[in-house]
Amino acid sequence: MSKKLRVAINTGGGDAPGLNAVIRAATLAGLNKGWEMVGIRNGYRSLTDESTPLVTLTRDMMRGITMMGGTILGTANRGNPFEMPYQDKDGNWDVRDESDQLVARFQEENLDALIAIGGDGSMYIASKLIEKGIPVVGVPKTIDNDLPRTDYTLGFDTAVTIATEAIDRITTTAESHDRIMVIEVMGRYAGWIALHSGLASTADVVLIPEIPFDYEKIVEKINLRASRGRNYTMIVVAEGATEKGGNVLTKGKVIGQAEQLGGIAERVAKTLTEMTGREARSVVLGHLQRGGSPTNFDRIISLRAGAEAVRAVEDGDFNKLIIFQGNKVSRIPIPEIAGQMKKVPLDGDTIATARDIGLNLGD
Ligand code: F6P
Repeated sequence: MSKKLRVAINTGGGDAPGLNAVIRAATLAGLNKGWEMVGIRNGYRSLTDESTPLVTLTRDMMRGITMMGGTILGTANRGNPFEMPYQDKDGNWDVRDESDQLVARFQEENLDALIAIGGDGSMYIASKLIEKGIPVVGVPKTIDNDLPRTDYTLGFDTAVTIATEAIDRITTTAESHDRIMVIEVMGRYAGWIALHSGLASTADVVLIPEIPFDYEKIVEKINLRASRGRNYTMIVVAEGATEKGGNVLTKGKVIGQAEQLGGIAERVAKTLTEMTGREARSVVLGHLQRGGSPTNFDRIISLRAGAEAVRAVEDGDFNKLIIFQGNKVSRIPIPEIAGQMKKVPLDGDTIATARDIGLNLGD
């Protein structure tokens, strides 16, 4: 009989639809092997803060959560144990390394493995925990789809679906009012959400971080459309997109947290109004893209990733990230992708398709 393992699961960084499906699949697969499954609350907090204990994950807790957005474990994007924010005695914020405490707690709790569900930040943390001897299996989550070596990250399909529906809806009002509408979508420094939702919603212009844009080219497109009797234009802009020679617009940084991006849609709308004399409005979709029920696709890949993570633990195949390539699930070493980003390939067929059908990419 194989050893009865005690396995912890956590969710880190921004939430994404599909997290609960991973938790369910991993928990049920583990329980069915006779293991004990526990949840770490709010990123790593249950291992760094005694007031937030580990949660014993039961079959009952897994009922009906595949279709639920968010994460039943909570998450944290100011929860890097190597750079944990704290307030000193004068009330000033700083960061400190709490990773030794975390490793000690992991051992005290007799945990055999950690299933870490997260994006680039979480996999970077995981790679540092691996160096400290924690056996980790990673599951790729982020609506941004920017983790290398995997075709998909869970949450991306749902974000694209929500953005596409929103852009579809904005299109009908844009047409009624002869307006230029500029819709800002998430994605950080990669243009996956913008490109896919822009293509699917038949936007006229899509601006992505991988292709710095030129306002003159956008104006040419607006004028071309007007010459064809189309007096409205739909522009989708990724939050990390930049004008040629320009910088990513940000909303500032909170200590211990990644910089918040945003503001580009408003800037583009204002500039286009000045250049064309036409009315341009901006809409920021924001966290709408991260909320609510996952799509069928995200549910399935999340369940597959959760069950595969448990198979990896059973095999003792640690320090691996579960990935999807060509609809096959497999595992790659986490340190191989730590600190790297998957950008939209400019020589890929999706960009070629956009250009072939006349979608303006701002260049
Ligand atoms: O990484 C996911 C993501 O939604 C990004 O697309 C976005 O830039 C960021 O998180 C927003 O994070 P927060 O919820 O902390 O503002």
